[in-house]
Amino acid sequence: MGGEAGKRAAAEAAAALVEAGSVIGVGTGSTVNHFIDALPGRDCRGAVSSSEASSARLRELGIPVLDANEVDGLALYVDGADEVNRHLQMIKGGGGALTREKIVAAMSDRFVCIVDAAKRVGVLGAFPLPVEVIPMARSFIGRELARLGGRPVLREGFTTDNGNLILDVHGLEIAEPIRLERALNDLPGVVTNGLFALRPADLLLVGSEGGVERVER
Ligand code: A5P
Repeated sequence: MGGEAGKRAAAEAAAALVEAGSVIGVGTGSTVNHFIDALPGRDCRGAVSSSEASSARLRELGIPVLDANEVDGLALYVDGADEVNRHLQMIKGGGGALTREKIVAAMSDRFVCIVDAAKRVGVLGAFPLPVEVIPMARSFIGRELARLGGRPVLREGFTTDNGNLILDVHGLEIAEPIRLERALNDLPGVVTNGLFALRPADLLLVGSEGGVERVER
């Protein structure tokens, strides 16, 4: 069992962690969609969402979506990942929601990452690393990313929820995720990069053949 069934199993295990009456952080993507679908009946008071897409799905199910500025921190954030290593560091942003995801993750006491087994890797970087950039800095950042050894490709026809562009960086073998995350954060014009290494997940739930594996940090 990989793919959708694995994603659903991990998502349902995460839904069981939602405390009655709590406000939670909700990420973005096909795995999180299963998590959202499992929320009704959990008596969740509301959610801070990382994307317009997740907000719409939450509202359809009658779960109030709150402005991040209206809440004073979150106990739990649940989100997927494009890749995750054994230190629970991740590449995220395949769906383009990386900036809001990083904000909600930073607001949360506990980050639970939900994936199917295919997302686990030894070394991050086979999945192209998304970097959200201010439009006027696109070419400058592209040259800097090439200098760091990557091959940046503009995500054609895509604008983030914040009105910016995404460069997907191919060909990186990320031996030192924290160092690269910091280096990218230092480039003027980078809004966010998709490395979640400075703030990794606290708990990884992997849905696969034998059920759901829990990996604590
Ligand atoms: C969204 O921007 C991403 O960070 C997602 O968390 C990631 O792409 C996982 O998506 P799936 O659950 O659809 O694989």
